[in-house]
Amino acid sequence: MIKAISSLRKTLVLPLHLHIRTLQTFAKYNAQAASALREERKKPLYQNGDDEYVDLDWDNLGFGLTPADYMYVMKCSKDGEFTQGELSPYGNIQLSPSAGVLNYGQAIYEGTKAYRKEDGKLLLFRPDHNAVRMKLGAERMLMPSPSVDQFVNAIKQTALANKRWVPPAGKGTLYIRPLLMGSGPILGLGPAPEYTFIVYASPVGNYFKEGMAALNLYVEEEYVRAAPGGAGGVKSITNYAPVLKALSRAKSRGFSDVLYLDSVKKKYLEEASSCNVFVVKGRTISTPATNGTILEGITRKSVMEIASDQGYQVTQIRLIHSKHPNTLSFTPDL
Ligand SMILES: Cc1ncc(COP(=O)(O)O)c(C=O)c1O
Repeated sequence: MIKAISSLRKTLVLPLHLHIRTLQTFAKYNAQAASALREERKKPLYQNGDDEYVDLDWDNLGFGLTPADYMYVMKCSKDGEFTQGELSPYGNIQLSPSAGVLNYGQAIYEGTKAYRKEDGKLLLFRPDHNAVRMKLGAERMLMPSPSVDQFVNAIKQTALANKRWVPPAGKGTLYIRPLLMGSGPILGLGPAPEYTFIVYASPVGNYFKEGMAALNLYVEEEYVRAAPGGAGGVKSITNYAPVLKALSRAKSRGFSDVLYLDSVKKKYLEEASSCNVFVVKGRTISTPATNGTILEGITRKSVMEIASDQGYQVTQIRLIHSKHPNTLSFTPDL
């Protein structure tokens, strides 16, 4: 199934229609960046030649952070409008110790990828869907958010500026991480007075070290990922630190990841730490129905659309986790 998802995903990537841009196009860099780039002034900010790559071991990419050269930063003014963003060299950012994100976790993120085609051109995977999901998440976390156009533009600029970091076709992808956070200072619990949207990128290989081989998932019966009424249905940063303990325990026991159950009855299958799950039987593909505790993955939606087009019966239902002496099975709760 994972193989199927991967090939379906490839059919949904979108061409990236931005042209080569030069340093002049992205003129506003901070002083440090400008001086670092002064030597390069006559050259384009980034090289878009098809044969130009950074020096990396493309055959052994894991899912670790190898920051690409440029990040995109856009600030939100007091009136809730995002101003024109700009690219700058990847680097640390300054935050007040009392920033809303550091104290109260007011932030959401997204994850999307740029792919390189055999002819060198770049493709993005449905970035407009990430933009819409970020808007929904921002509403839940009481934050202003970039418009869909601003979001997609930021992704395109980040991908193109870092084109040398997009792995050769078939060797991996450029993972692109948009992050929206309450960056303004606040003491009492409340929404931050200012917001920052950042997009950075890193070349990656498979998320799981198992690659395309089967995963060994630990069904978690103690810790839960999300509860009804919480923020499990959006990509709030607050959903992730609480799963680390369960994930670490599962890994120490030799498992690849954790399968979470619902928090009320500890009976229904929900999702893994960072991906949705499907149960496949013959020509029927089932996935847990979303109800606010499960993230509505863009891969999930795409798999359902394409599988259905290809004649599979696709159902969104409650799947019961049932234990048998030597095996586990998931049964539809009809
Ligand atoms: C908890 C969780 N579920 C599902 C997904 C899959 O989402 P998508 O298919 O949009 O990448 C993610 C992605 O990071 C996630 O963190």
